[in-house]
Amino acid sequence: MVKKKACVFISGSGTNLKSIIKNSRDYNFPINISLVVTNNKTAKGIIFAKKFSIPYICLNTDQYKFEKIILKKLNENKIKLICLAGFMKILSKKFIRDFRGKIINIHPSLLPKYKGLNTFNRVLKSKDKITGCTVHFVDEKLDNGKTIIQKRVLIGSKDDAKTLKKRVQFEEYRAYTNAIHKIYELN
Ligand code: GRF
Repeated sequence: MVKKKACVFISGSGTNLKSIIKNSRDYNFPINISLVVTNNKTAKGIIFAKKFSIPYICLNTDQYKFEKIILKKLNENKIKLICLAGFMKILSKKFIRDFRGKIINIHPSLLPKYKGLNTFNRVLKSKDKITGCTVHFVDEKLDNGKTIIQKRVLIGSKDDAKTLKKRVQFEEYRAYTNAIHKIYELN
């Protein structure tokens, strides 16, 4: 199988990055992670790019410069899919339009519920019995594009933000993998 080249954008711990890289080593996985991008030089996730010998770029600058440099790198590396995984920098409408249908994101809730930050505390304050995660295409609005896949997690009466996050993240790794398979099955 000819794998498409993909890039993962991170800002933090990079556990989704790690999971995607591991899965991408599978012969039947439709993408190969050829590049990692971060805006945070202290992002723990950089360790996974290093560990798996994947080139990475760390760039902490204004949006215009960031996107100009990254766009050049994406084109040079023939990147066909951008996976956002805990990437905390806002991308411009132009950048998103230029990559329409080729940027996906993971969010720790069952969208359209709980868009934005601080998801777990807001979920716990609600009376919801179920939460989960969503992998979706990125459009110009925050946490808004078409859903590719969702995974559900039951909220226990003893859950706090930490325990819930742990269980949701476990589902995130499965969700991201399934979503990437799904995208290329549809194409
Ligand atoms: C994930 O929980 C994801 O839903 C959110 O950011 C977190 C990133 O975690 N968008 P990690 O960096 O992959 O560990």
